[in-house]
Amino acid sequence: MMKTHVVTGAASGIGAATATRLRANGDRVITVDRHDADVVADLSTGAGRATAVAGVQDLTDVIHGLVPCAGIAGLTGVDSALVVSVNYFGAIAMVTGLRPQLVAAGDSSVVLIASNSITAQPGWNADVASACLKDDEAGARAAAAEVEAVMVYPATKAALAYWVRREGVRSEWIGAGIRLNSVAPGLIATPMTEQLRLDPQLGVFADAYPSAVGRPGRPEEVANAINFLLSEESSLMVGNVVFVDGGTDALLHPLKPEGMQVNAIALGVLNTVAGLATKVSAMRRKKG
Ligand code: NAI
Repeated sequence: MMKTHVVTGAASGIGAATATRLRANGDRVITVDRHDADVVADLSTGAGRATAVAGVQDLTDVIHGLVPCAGIAGLTGVDSALVVSVNYFGAIAMVTGLRPQLVAAGDSSVVLIASNSITAQPGWNADVASACLKDDEAGARAAAAEVEAVMVYPATKAALAYWVRREGVRSEWIGAGIRLNSVAPGLIATPMTEQLRLDPQLGVFADAYPSAVGRPGRPEEVANAINFLLSEESSLMVGNVVFVDGGTDALLHPLKPEGMQVNAIALGVLNTVAGLATKVSAMRRKKG
């Protein structure tokens, strides 16, 4: 059966490699990007996200795989608030907006793109991640505006990773046949990291992290992991954060991955609410 997938950020780097990999399976890929895509939209704004979701819905009723890959790096001079809006809210809006088409597939899979900067880069801004997880875009943008974009990028990626773990197990998602997972790539040779190398302040950090394989990753290597997570071969994988980083995280944290604590109270409240919601929907199903 030919499947239909949607990949954002597909004009470049990991998104482009993912689209190529999925097409090699004989599947259909609908691309979304600011340029050179089936659906041209700017995912940094609510209006742009609505255009993206509607544009995809015009092209298909069913989505088997969704990869919200569009993202921007936290380079010197980049607007920190823009990093929040593109990386976190631009990705989540695609997942929630296209949920009906994912449900329609009966069995579907979403792979969000986190980053090993969550565990490799110390000092990122936890307030940004907490506000993201509360779906508070204005609050997250305001918190981000207080700090450099470099401290915001890992926060947006941590929030994506926490989101798949929190939401992936809920009846709204796995109960509807939708598996949510994420990958956490290390340094991958793409136009994004070429820009990082040119950054006058941050360029020196491009090769600062240890790599067990001794080289940057290739976009195709991340695309292969995404392809696996979209396939039936990963049918038991739900709410995972899969490091695809040539061993960087394992070298830095031999015993276990170490991120920062996102506001534990906020997460606790969210988990309690999610648990109650799951119980209530289970009771409703029993009654019905
Ligand atoms: P890239 O710069 O090669 O590609 C990013 C794509 O996203 C571009 O085609 C760009 O036009 C699109 N995009 C950016 N802002 C957008 C917007 N507002 N609306 C629509 N499209 C937009 O980057 P790369 O390296 O392929 O990164 C892809 C994803 O992987 C990003 O989410 C990035 O954060 C993540 N990642 C990359 C790593 C790396 O080392 N390259 C490491 C870890 C994560």
